[in-house]
Amino acid sequence: MIKAVRGTRDLLPPDTALWNFVEAAVRDVFRAYNFQEIRTPVFETTELFARGVGEETDIVSKEMFTWEDGAKAADYAIYKKWMVSKRSADTPLAAMDPNMATADSPLPTAYLPDKKQYVVFAFRVSAEAYRELGRAKALKNSGVLQFDELLLVTSEPAPEGFSFDIGGMKVKVERILVDANPQFITLRPENTAGVVRAYIEHKLWDRGLNKLYYIGPQFRRERPQKGRYRQFYQIGAEVIGPPASGSESPARDAEVLEMLATLLDRLGITDWNLELNSVGSSQERVKFNEALRVALAPLKDKMCADCQRRAVTNPLRVLDCKVPEDQPIIEELPRITDFLEEESRKHFDAVQDILTKVGVKFTLNPRLVRGLDYYTRTAFEFTHGALGAQNAILGGGRYDGLSEALGGPAAPGIGFAIGEDRLVMSLQEKTPAESVLRKPDVYIAPMAGMNADAAKLARELRRHDLVVELGDDSFRKLKKSFEAAEKAGAKYILIVGENEVKADAFALKNLATGEQVSVPRAELAQKIQG
Ligand code: HAM
Repeated sequence: MIKAVRGTRDLLPPDTALWNFVEAAVRDVFRAYNFQEIRTPVFETTELFARGVGEETDIVSKEMFTWEDGAKAADYAIYKKWMVSKRSADTPLAAMDPNMATADSPLPTAYLPDKKQYVVFAFRVSAEAYRELGRAKALKNSGVLQFDELLLVTSEPAPEGFSFDIGGMKVKVERILVDANPQFITLRPENTAGVVRAYIEHKLWDRGLNKLYYIGPQFRRERPQKGRYRQFYQIGAEVIGPPASGSESPARDAEVLEMLATLLDRLGITDWNLELNSVGSSQERVKFNEALRVALAPLKDKMCADCQRRAVTNPLRVLDCKVPEDQPIIEELPRITDFLEEESRKHFDAVQDILTKVGVKFTLNPRLVRGLDYYTRTAFEFTHGALGAQNAILGGGRYDGLSEALGGPAAPGIGFAIGEDRLVMSLQEKTPAESVLRKPDVYIAPMAGMNADAAKLARELRRHDLVVELGDDSFRKLKKSFEAAEKAGAKYILIVGENEVKADAFALKNLATGEQVSVPRAELAQKIQG
């Protein structure tokens, strides 16, 4: 049996009704706050996430689904170009290279007995290129092939210090340029980088302040557990625009947070906790990072391997560490709040003032730094008790420098992403999927030979926005139709027999009360609607 890949899952009815309920409710809320939908691609260049989310984050360093696209075609293009350039006009390729490569070869290679050459073609000097050179070595050493020259033909420059030799014979590297552009591609692990990429690509600053939302799958290669999947869904929003559009104002932060409180309340999720912090401007973060580096220097050897590395490369990420033994050390480290200067402090105070005034409760958490590098100033998470270890139902914050980091103009922004899987999970306790599922209003049961008349009736009733389940006349006994109607959860069953069609009035039975009446065709919809 072929099963869904580990960490992915099928969402099935009736659960999907709850997902639709959530999505309809959030779309309503987004509308009320004047947010509009954006849909960005599910995959982007790897570079976008490396530069946007940060090389040292868990997401980029360990969790991305990445592949190289177009590499094979590029390898083959090099092979073809080189071979064509070397042959005399009337020599077909096949005559020159008896084991001619095809576009499907692992890496194209050519053995040219006339020239006593063996050639490996690779767009860049990759691990596969080394493997092919190793194979060439084995072929020569075992005497299978005789050649005096080993060539590596590539398009990208070979890495510094590259050298490879076979018993004294050095590989000769030849560079040729081809019109091919293999790229590293990544399934998006989050959507903020994609939205900011689109903001820059489409010059969305022309519209002033952009208030955008998205709903869609994201991908992270995390260890799957309850509430943590490799394909999961986010409902997110981003407010981004040029500074002159007011994108930097604390009023934006507060509005986003108040909207989230409204949204959760609207869904009936009441026992959430908003944890709030300011992670400072990028300059303040530089100072904080330095203070952490100094504080960690004498301590890091007692910490986990990841922390030892992060203590040097990006000390802020040490604060994300979940290893229990490291927590007492982390507890004693300097706090970002002590590094905030006047402007950031004022911004943070203003956000808190508005939240207090509009009545949104929050808890300050000076340890909250979030696992992505782009955050500046306001950072937050909403947690929910029912979720257990993976208790962050949503997270977000400001990213005032992200656009610039991606090569765009200054465009301060703030946003969040809700983990939809977790949101649905915390809803499930109080709101079972069955309670939001719209069951059939009526089940139409055609007697023998009455399928066409039943279909006509179904078509009429569905035009009245009724949910109609249409049976067929293969159930020779009416009892089976009744069973099917009950199973589907229909309110009524409507019998379509020859006599009914002649009389243009149909037997309609209420399955809950057992009441059965004959209803003229013209009055059916109204009677069923109740
Ligand atoms: P994040 O904190 O990485 O932020 O993810 C947001 C939410 O997505 C988490 O709070 C969690 O509910 C959910 N989530 C993350 N990973 C998984 C997983 N493996 N399985 C199930 N749910 C998961 C971001 O992604 C930022 N882009 C949020 C943002 C938007 N910041 C500013 N704008």
